[in-house]
Amino acid sequence: MSNELIKLLDRADAMPAAALLRARTYDLLRLKPGDTVVDVGCGAGLAVAELADRNVTAVGMDVSEEMITVARRRRPQADFRIGDAYRLPLHDREVAGYRADKVFHELADPAKALAEAVRVLTPGGRIVLIGQDWDTIVIDSDQPALTRIIVHARADLTTNPRAARAYRNLLLDAGFREVEVEAHVGVFTGETMLAMLTGLAQAAHSAGGHHPGGVRRLDGGAGAPCRGGPAVPRPAAVRRLRHQVADQPAPQARHPRSRKPAASATAAEARLAGSCM
Ligand SMILES: C[S@@+](CC[C@H](N)C(=O)[O-])C[C@H]1O[C@@H](n2cnc3c(N)ncnc32)[C@H](O)[C@@H]1O
Repeated sequence: MSNELIKLLDRADAMPAAALLRARTYDLLRLKPGDTVVDVGCGAGLAVAELADRNVTAVGMDVSEEMITVARRRRPQADFRIGDAYRLPLHDREVAGYRADKVFHELADPAKALAEAVRVLTPGGRIVLIGQDWDTIVIDSDQPALTRIIVHARADLTTNPRAARAYRNLLLDAGFREVEVEAHVGVFTGETMLAMLTGLAQAAHSAGGHHPGGVRRLDGGAGAPCRGGPAVPRPAAVRRLRHQVADQPAPQARHPRSRKPAASATAAEARLAGSCM
């Protein structure tokens, strides 16, 4: 699982817009040379390396041993530790900055993680959270009703799919002040995000789609009836989404609707910066 996740993250990280967004998170931390910053849920460690280039002491923490192994292999000079967001292996008031990128949607108890952030931050220290709201993915599809089911079904597979929209209140409740929110929209039209798009449909399919009238499976077998709506043949659904993206790079020759992007997904990303009490 980690290998697939790392490949996907690597692909997303390489996009220019993602690099700009990461840089923005570093700026928001307002670190001074010599400060210590922790990147919680650091994954393969790219942000830790980029932060270290800013003359600060960067520590990467991740609960996954596999992730930390990959991070250490890629960047042997950097400081990576196995650490849980709920119980960070750090002293009280040890760090001036706390960053978590695409992590809080995986936490069942974000308030507990923020209490831990408050513990490890120095007075006046800053926190930056960034992540996608999983219910706010917009896909240009010929089957909007099915697409909505797929997006929501995928979101429901996430522990905390709407964590990003809750950042502000979570931070205020945790005692942070001067909390600010920024929303960024990413528009993806090329093949880079094809795996994410098809993965969305496949993951939703594996779990079955949720429907107000009852649970309906996205595959529906051979047109099997279902509660709350007509059966949706899964292979067609996945193929459809896949084709809409796959056709996009060379649309002129192959697709009559080539003048507009065949598929686009927007992802809202929000983050907060607040100073610690
Ligand atoms: C989607 S990845 C993002 C990785 C990295 N921040 C990035 O932007 O590429 C989420 C990471 O959070 C880690 N994670 C999940 N729950 C965690 C927890 N309780 N404490 C620390 N890390 C956690 C996962 O192991 C994974 O590496």
